[in-house]
Amino acid sequence: MAELGHDVVGIDVDAAKVASLSRGVAPFHEPGFDELLARNVESGRLRFSTDFADLAHAQVHFIGVGTPQVQGGYAADLTYVNSAVASLLPHLNHHVDGPTLVVGKSTVPVGTAATIAETIAPTGALLVWNPEFLREGFAVQDTISPDRIVYGLPKDPESAGTAQGVLDDVYKQLIAAEIPRLTTDYATAELVKVAANSFLATKISFINAMAELCEATGADVTQLAEAIGHDDRIGKKFLRAGIGFGGGCLPKDIRAFMARAGELGVDQALTFLREVDSINDRRRDHVVNTARDGLGGTFEGKKVAVLGAAFKPDSDDMRNSPALDIAARISGEGATVVITDPAAGPKLRAARPTTHVADDAYTAAAGADVVLLLTEWKQFKELDPTRLKDAVNNPWIIDGRNALDPTTWRDAGWTYTGIGRP
Ligand code: UDX
Repeated sequence: MAELGHDVVGIDVDAAKVASLSRGVAPFHEPGFDELLARNVESGRLRFSTDFADLAHAQVHFIGVGTPQVQGGYAADLTYVNSAVASLLPHLNHHVDGPTLVVGKSTVPVGTAATIAETIAPTGALLVWNPEFLREGFAVQDTISPDRIVYGLPKDPESAGTAQGVLDDVYKQLIAAEIPRLTTDYATAELVKVAANSFLATKISFINAMAELCEATGADVTQLAEAIGHDDRIGKKFLRAGIGFGGGCLPKDIRAFMARAGELGVDQALTFLREVDSINDRRRDHVVNTARDGLGGTFEGKKVAVLGAAFKPDSDDMRNSPALDIAARISGEGATVVITDPAAGPKLRAARPTTHVADDAYTAAAGADVVLLLTEWKQFKELDPTRLKDAVNNPWIIDGRNALDPTTWRDAGWTYTGIGRP
């Protein structure tokens, strides 16, 4: 928002994050973000605070807090959203130049926006539901140049027109760049987000199910994905078979969607997402089982190198990370596991001092009986198989992301095991 020329104040309840951001230092790894942050903090267009009173002058309030999975259930935890709305409430409508807008970006169960609109109605502020579609690792690019913008608008046409006018002004540059902008009701806007993430999760589990078939028949899922992807109706993206999806969005979003469908009495509409979820889990089991089988039926006394801790490359986010889950299961079965990750490594070391974290892949692989590539960082794709072979006890690599060229690695003397590839 500051980059688009607006005067912005970011509010968070976490004082350490606010202090770091105020110094122009991002508390997470995101390509291109550091420069953007520093530039806008420097110019004075972007400030951070823990005090809600600092936003009293603002006309537009974005809510972008998390909606994690509740403990012990599938539903989304709305505590942070509700608390943000409650804290915002006393400060709404102090703006004199025009109507005040609250813009919801958080991923919420359908029906949440209508409730928030009712809560803020007495202040005269209007609500727009404006789901966020950015991908970690591409956050800057996806924000400045999104595929589309969706506005869930109030029912009343006059309020809808007013709210749309204010938000169009906020997104002036994006609209001028002809990024498609769709206007809907609240429920549709809320559903667009979870429908999109469910579709993406389904694509990944579809190709992972095909990987299971390929493993049973000696076929190659990477060739299969390429061949079906040439059909525009299918498309090539999100058809990378591997250890499945993780992160702070896809897994909890499909679960929260199933929980909400149950509350709405239409749980049957989404039972397929249960299957999507279990195919995803099975891929993690598959890697653990393959490694154990290859090591003679037990991890006891074995050394396992794990390349990757983040749920995807170019991120240090370890929420619901398939890589960490696999590492933890193998360690739980008695192996010595050494993990390395270019961005998440230092965070992992700080958060779990008992976990063995190495600075790079060559160090992690020292004496290893098997190497697992679980997050497809560029650094791992560019590893030198000969140098890595000198480090290990047994040159066997399980490529959980099909990120390496099997021929290169086999020629260098490795036993190469991919996912859904012969
Ligand atoms: C996702 C959505 O893509 C984004 O639009 C939404 O706003 C938030 O959720 P993100 O969680 O950042 O974004 O990651 P994404 O790129 O979708 O990857 C999710 C997981 O799927 C990762 O663990 C990734 O490794 C895995 N994945 C992705 C595959 O296993 N195969 C693929 O082909 C693509």
